[in-house]
Amino acid sequence: MAARSLSLLLSAAALVAATDPSLKLKTFVDVLDLEYSFDPVKAAYWTALPHHRRTPFAVSPDGQTAYLAYLDSSGTGVHVQHLHPPTMTAKGPLVSIPNVYEAGGLVAHDHGFALLGNEPIATTVANAPPSGTPVPAIYRYANGVQQWKTFVAGPGVHADDGLSMAPDMNGDLVWSDEAELYGAYFVVTDYSGDADGHFGDSIEYVNDNGTLETITGASSSWGCSHNTGIAFEAADAAPFASICAEDQGAIWLNTATQGMTDNGVKISNENTTNGAGGEAMGGMSGSYSSLARFVNSTSYIFAWVSRGAVDLTANTWMGDGYTSASNRTNGRRTAMALFSDKETKVSAQASSVVGAVDGDSQVNWVSPSIGADRSNAHAAVFDDEYALVTWEEIAQPSCDIIAFGCSGAFTGTHFQLVNVAGDTIGEPIVSENTYVAGDMVTLANGTICWPYVNMDWRLDLPVGGGLPETTTKKMSFGCMSLV
Ligand SMILES: *[C@@H]1O[C@H](CO)[C@@H](O)[C@H](O)[C@H]1NC(C)=O
Ligand SMILES: *[C@@H]1O[C@H](CO)[C@@H](O)[C@H](O)[C@H]1NC(C)=O
Ligand SMILES: *[C@@H]1O[C@H](CO)[C@@H](O)[C@H](O)[C@H]1NC(C)=O
Ligand SMILES: *[C@@H]1O[C@H](CO)[C@@H](O)[C@H](O)[C@H]1NC(C)=O
Ligand SMILES: *[C@@H]1O[C@H](CO)[C@@H](O)[C@H](O)[C@H]1NC(C)=O
Repeated sequence: MAARSLSLLLSAAALVAATDPSLKLKTFVDVLDLEYSFDPVKAAYWTALPHHRRTPFAVSPDGQTAYLAYLDSSGTGVHVQHLHPPTMTAKGPLVSIPNVYEAGGLVAHDHGFALLGNEPIATTVANAPPSGTPVPAIYRYANGVQQWKTFVAGPGVHADDGLSMAPDMNGDLVWSDEAELYGAYFVVTDYSGDADGHFGDSIEYVNDNGTLETITGASSSWGCSHNTGIAFEAADAAPFASICAEDQGAIWLNTATQGMTDNGVKISNENTTNGAGGEAMGGMSGSYSSLARFVNSTSYIFAWVSRGAVDLTANTWMGDGYTSASNRTNGRRTAMALFSDKETKVSAQASSVVGAVDGDSQVNWVSPSIGADRSNAHAAVFDDEYALVTWEEIAQPSCDIIAFGCSGAFTGTHFQLVNVAGDTIGEPIVSENTYVAGDMVTLANGTICWPYVNMDWRLDLPVGGGLPETTTKKMSFGCMSLV
């Protein structure tokens, strides 16, 4: 009897194996008590529209411990809470790293973690940045105790190319077991050298003992101008997979170039105005879980938001081969791109033909309909075949400032199942009270989990413009699995 029903079950399973799975959302609402309070809202650069303040999240390879990093609501000091993954409740220890101004990325190990943060260097130190502007650093802890701290900019770091600081920590930290390296990709402002006073980005590598390594063809002191969005994911060797959104009209897969030159892979044309590029990778407090590597695979998936591109014109500042674009739409749409390896886009690159009317015919739209505005796009993988793309929507947006975000009533977080071939599968799940506000992590059993704050999420007003001020001492988690 038992054997017979088992074989029936097995043949039923074999029959459905050819069919695509669907998504199942499970939430853990207010399960984690925070020891310190957290302000879940961060004002966007220029518009001050609300963004979720990123809470970096990571799970150890042995699956025993999850880590959640959050900035103290005082604005100084990052706390890293250790968690039990099955329940997302606290387990010891809680680590507080004083003087850090933002939690900018987190890597989990079996007995500890590494955090990307930024902290001021005393102005009495030779070549320190002016007025206590913070400098990015990686902090490595094991069993709750700091092992090392390594600055990845500031005094003595690529001094010949100009010194860098990070007034806002926008970027990401990854670790490669194969390369035995941490990689950090982050937005910088230079305070000496040719780029003094300008915004750009930097890619730095640090080994397991905390030594900053300068790797030819991988480390970069200055890459994409006015980068307002970073996507970064580990690879088996440096250079790691990297994407930047620059202020001249494009998003580049710049793994091989680390910059914005046209020998990189042009993923898309974007309308850029006054240094802004549509907050393609989330803008301020974004730059996480936009690029993910399929399990046991060399392939990657990238998700972003775009207004599309029409009427390509010559970009005379950049020179021959470079273009600028006007936007096709008012609101932004979610898009995805697939890469067969860290340097190779699966389908056509974006056009660089001056005079072309269509500058976005290569884009694989995840939300094709025009009218709504999409923001806060992220991607994470379930396994070697399926991935999740998420974004937030405003059904009736006002997009008052060109190439920035839009305002209006929030109409839900969307969760769309996609596959490695670039197909969308089924309709998205829409939730009006679950958000993505921290790193989306794939657990060993193929479930994707991320942190968020259970709150009334509003996108209709700027921060300081009438939104209630919020701090919280609770954290919630969302998990998506395939069924
Ligand atoms: C995977 O593991 C997590 C954490 O233990 C658990 O919450 C989740 O239910 C598991 N998913 C499946 C599909 O078993
Ligand atoms: C740290 O790593 C570097 C590069 O691999 C090596 O030269 C150095 O000796 C190591 N230092 C320690 C203390 O292990
Ligand atoms: C961006 O698009 C607007 C039209 O919406 C256009 O006027 C502007 O020139 C575009 N920017 C660039 C750099 O082409
Ligand atoms: C990845 O490879 C490991 C080791 O071969 C295997 O145990 C695991 O099931 C694979 N995972 C997927 C999603 O293919
Ligand atoms: C281009 O985007 C801006 C907002 O950034 C918007 O005001 C304008 O209407 C858009 N253009 C088109 C053709 O939709």
